[in-house]
Amino acid sequence: MSARLIDVLLERRILICVGSGGVGKTTTAATLALAAARRGKRTLVLTIDPARRLANSLGLAELGHEVQQVDSALVRRDAPSQTGELYAMMLDQKRAFDEMVASHAKDPLAVKRILANPVYAQISGSLAGAQEYAAMTKLHEFDRTGAFDLIVVDTPPTAHALDFLDAPRKLGEAIDSPAIDWFRKLQGQGGSRWSLVGKTGAFVLKRLAKFVGSKFIDDLGVFFTEFNDILGGFRKRAEETFSLLRQPRVGFVLVASPEPMAVGEAVAFHERLIAAGMPFVGFVVNKVHPSRPVPDLSLAALEAALAAEPRISALGLSGTTHTMAATALLAAHAELETLAAADRNAIGQLQVAGGGGLLVQVPLLRDDVHDVTKLVGLERYLLG
Ligand SMILES: Nc1ncnc2c1ncn2[C@@H]1O[C@H](COP(=O)(O)OP(=O)(O)OP(=O)(O)O)[C@@H](O)[C@H]1O
Ligand SMILES: [Mg+2]
Repeated sequence: MSARLIDVLLERRILICVGSGGVGKTTTAATLALAAARRGKRTLVLTIDPARRLANSLGLAELGHEVQQVDSALVRRDAPSQTGELYAMMLDQKRAFDEMVASHAKDPLAVKRILANPVYAQISGSLAGAQEYAAMTKLHEFDRTGAFDLIVVDTPPTAHALDFLDAPRKLGEAIDSPAIDWFRKLQGQGGSRWSLVGKTGAFVLKRLAKFVGSKFIDDLGVFFTEFNDILGGFRKRAEETFSLLRQPRVGFVLVASPEPMAVGEAVAFHERLIAAGMPFVGFVVNKVHPSRPVPDLSLAALEAALAAEPRISALGLSGTTHTMAATALLAAHAELETLAAADRNAIGQLQVAGGGGLLVQVPLLRDDVHDVTKLVGLERYLLG
């Protein structure tokens, strides 16, 4: 395991930022990609970021399914190298899915029919794990072309970090769900859909048709006939696709916040990564409350300090007001130190889980991180 994130950044070809919802995956991915570009790498940051935070941070008004170059003047400002380039792409899940269908369907006409089928629109937008799968497919496409020195992947917003590794299984389960299976069997036998489902099935279909219209039932049937081959191979391909992530040139950056829930999930995720043989790089603990201990901080000392501060004494406040202000300050400071102590404890747990490997801390900043300057500001914490 490399000692510093900067080495990882310059050595690996693919970095994947994973973690629970809202911990700072997108921010970390953007900072790492930008940092690599500022060190001369031709870098792509691939995101599924419905909040469009990445686009805003990188000064791109619109970020969509096409690769866009980030303004080189912005990227290279005061940078160690003037040769790097940064590209960004926000994966449109539906488009990625369409492309995948197109690449696996029998012929162009079949592609057209599938994409135009209303059932497909539903399925492609709602299959569990499909977003992650689409992202991985796209990642491999870019990886194969070798067009980039480094690809940083920002994984989609999920409630739990583990959702990412569970994506192939979830996708498999969604495909093999009883309802889908029923329709597939129905179609697999050929002939009339209505005769093969048996009495109960036919009854259910007819009742269903009353509600959704028989056209919809027909759409369903046609869809599963056409889509069966593609769907059948999905689970296998999903696992294959994800297994490519085990290569040593890939690295997983596990982003966590020091909140107990996020720490618990990060530890569980780390265990799963290791068990699955995926190359773990290190923890990024984001939004850490900084500790600013002041030795011998007492009410009297604080009052005296306030009184001695010219801008405060110029206000001509009463002694009681000074005491009240000093008391409030003291309480606020104690509260912050308590938060910082809790964070240290959480970070200790992650350190143990990571076996003393790479762990970097990024403090909780006063403002959101929403532009290139702010992202560059995070470099020093991340890269060390
Ligand atoms: N160190 C920090 N200090 C303060 N704010 C931060 C810090 N890091 C990230 N943020 C802010 O927290 C919010 C969430 O960050 P970000 O979008 O990177 O998280 P995420 O893990 O990608 O979230 P999601 O799971 O929704 O995709 C953003 O508004 C971001 O600007
Ligand atoms: Mg995000």
